[in-house]
Amino acid sequence: MMWIVCLLLVPFCCTSGARRSEDDRNTWLLNNTLGYVNENASACVNFFEHACGKYGAIHIDDPFTEITEMLDHKVNTRFVQLMDELNQRSRLRGFNESSVEAKVLRFYLTCRGASKELRSVKNYLRLAPPDEGLTWPQLTPGRTAWPEERFEWLKTLGVLHRYGLTNVIVSVLVIPSLSNSSEFLLDLSMPSFQEGSSFTETLAALRVSGVPRNSAPPIARKISRLESALRVLAESDKDDEDKLMNVDQLERRTGLNWRKFVELVIGHSISPQFRVQVRNLIYFAGLKRIMDSSDAQMVANYIMVRFVRYLLEESEDDGHAIECIKVIRRSMGPASNLIYKQRFLAPAKLQQYTQEIVKIFDQVRQQFLIQIERNSLRLTTKQRTMVATKVREIILNIGNIPRTLDYRTLVSRHYENLTFPPGDLDYCRNHLKVLEIRTKMGVAQLDRPAMTREEYCYLSDENSAGPYYLRRQNVIVLPFALLQEPLFVPGSHDVFKYSLLGFLLAHELAHSVDSDSVHLDSLGNVHQTGIEILSSSAYTAGLECMNRNPTQYLDERFADIYGVDLAYSTYTRIASEKNLRDFAHISLEQIFFLNLAQFFCGDGAATNFVDHDDDKLRLQQILSGFVPFHRAFGCQSSSQHQKCQVW
Ligand SMILES: *[C@@H]1O[C@H](CO)[C@@H](O)[C@H](O)[C@H]1NC(C)=O
Ligand SMILES: *[C@@H]1O[C@H](CO)[C@@H](O)[C@H](O)[C@H]1NC(C)=O
Ligand SMILES: *[C@@H]1O[C@H](CO)[C@@H](O)[C@H](O)[C@H]1NC(C)=O
Ligand SMILES: *[C@@H]1O[C@H](CO)[C@@H](O)[C@H](O)[C@H]1NC(C)=O
Ligand SMILES: *[C@@H]1O[C@H](CO)[C@@H](O)[C@H](O)[C@H]1NC(C)=O
Ligand SMILES: [Zn+2]
Repeated sequence: MMWIVCLLLVPFCCTSGARRSEDDRNTWLLNNTLGYVNENASACVNFFEHACGKYGAIHIDDPFTEITEMLDHKVNTRFVQLMDELNQRSRLRGFNESSVEAKVLRFYLTCRGASKELRSVKNYLRLAPPDEGLTWPQLTPGRTAWPEERFEWLKTLGVLHRYGLTNVIVSVLVIPSLSNSSEFLLDLSMPSFQEGSSFTETLAALRVSGVPRNSAPPIARKISRLESALRVLAESDKDDEDKLMNVDQLERRTGLNWRKFVELVIGHSISPQFRVQVRNLIYFAGLKRIMDSSDAQMVANYIMVRFVRYLLEESEDDGHAIECIKVIRRSMGPASNLIYKQRFLAPAKLQQYTQEIVKIFDQVRQQFLIQIERNSLRLTTKQRTMVATKVREIILNIGNIPRTLDYRTLVSRHYENLTFPPGDLDYCRNHLKVLEIRTKMGVAQLDRPAMTREEYCYLSDENSAGPYYLRRQNVIVLPFALLQEPLFVPGSHDVFKYSLLGFLLAHELAHSVDSDSVHLDSLGNVHQTGIEILSSSAYTAGLECMNRNPTQYLDERFADIYGVDLAYSTYTRIASEKNLRDFAHISLEQIFFLNLAQFFCGDGAATNFVDHDDDKLRLQQILSGFVPFHRAFGCQSSSQHQKCQVW
């Protein structure tokens, strides 16, 4: 066994970025970028096809469709390797069974080894009943009647929230209060219905829950009717104002037993004066009538179907290594993030990455401050000061880890009560435990002082592949997965750094002043000066201009268009004139835009794009009317695409 130990002591090396000379790194990057270029397509007419035309051919058999998925897949592959190493280590003396590593490993082994029966939906439903001493109607044995008088739907929703089920009949969130981002509140509103069930999905969920083939369609039809009734009720409620009220008031306004529900959600008893944030009182007031007139068994079936669909989305049913890794990264975010960092980002390496990335970020931020100072929106001094302060105080969090706390201590504490009995291969039971802990982490924020911005790490980060801006914390998170080539290669030429990672950071910086965030100050609280900017004519005109070609995702378009402007102007401000030795035939400006395109290149289906326009349209909108781009490729700029005036 000794050789294994030795192997493990060798620090991780040789991502292909390490140890290469700068010239080699640049050559590799450029070659990689040029590898996707389709020379047959004109850069001016169709830049997406020009820059990305060969993507599909190169990645024809790969299990990803674009760059962030690819980086995420690389991370998953590394995790499989890490699990194998941990498994070897666990057989040696001295392996700490209460460490975070051991807990992740145990859950992984359950996921890999559980039988079909122990990962089945029926098993989940047995382990997570609608209430104490009550089974789901489906699983009620033989001819005994289901005791429907014992079923209380709101209580069941509270019971299942423990595992993270929300957005069914009621939406529950734990979020910072609008006036004070360091105070967390329980927020209750109507569900979004975006995840509403299609008839086929309902049918499928009923079947895997053990409903016989013949009984499933009539049950599914009743469920659809109930959901339609809820949807109609929701549509009648246009109220989108948050109100603070205590649970007692809410009960009187709606006739529902909220106190019990809230106690189940937060895990301890509360006084009737406990305050919650509520929207959609019209919906809630109408709920009682609909639910009272519905058959209890059918309501239970509806909740069960939604619970089953939630579990199926959270889980994987085949026990393949990569699939199990996905479940772990999703359900044990902080734990998996910690062990990834520990294994693949040695302190010296992480320090070098951090230094280079912080430099890029600071340069982009500096450029933003310069442009705020130029004041093309003609803001008042007070408004400009507010925005500049906010931008100056944005924290870049690399890897979603707290700056001022010991990460291992913090994470170990999160999982202190998680134990897996040795040899337990009940995947469902262990998965439910893990989901419970994940939910608790979010809910626990109600009971303790909010993390400071320096301590902050986003708990429900399900290992998002891209960077993101947290508007209530004024923090940008850059997940570890992005610290990989070709997105970021330390020591490479600025043209690569600023066109890709620099653009992403600029895009997130821009989100701090988009129409969803500009009204918040540097601490994430609503601020009168910000509201003034939001409603000023210059600001609105800029956004309207970007919406000439209408999009559902205007803030994203704004962040894209302003992001590229910011990244490019930062690059030209600081660029060294150093050319890339081996590629004299292609200008640095061209490289900038071809490398920028790497973020958008892909061959995914249209359904891949969530909350954003598709990548081809995004790239086109970014470059349309962008003079440096037209200049770089010698395109004629058409006058109809005047650049929109922002910041
Ligand atoms: C450049 O990329 C091509 C594939 O696109 C590869 O065949 C070639 O070996 C690469 N050259 C260098 C110098 O990396
Ligand atoms: C470009 O055009 C040539 C000649 O028509 C063709 O052989 C080649 O496959 C085309 N390349 C791509 C990437 O479409
Ligand atoms: C094992 O891990 C737990 C949890 O992280 C820790 O509290 C304990 O000190 C560790 N034990 C040893 C012997 O390192
Ligand atoms: C915000 O909430 C925190 C925690 O409840 C409290 O300590 C702080 O005083 C509040 N700040 C303001 C401005 O109300
Ligand atoms: C673990 O359980 C103990 C005892 O019930 C409790 O005091 C503690 O808060 C729990 N820890 C977490 C992170 O939930
Ligand atoms: Zn965005």
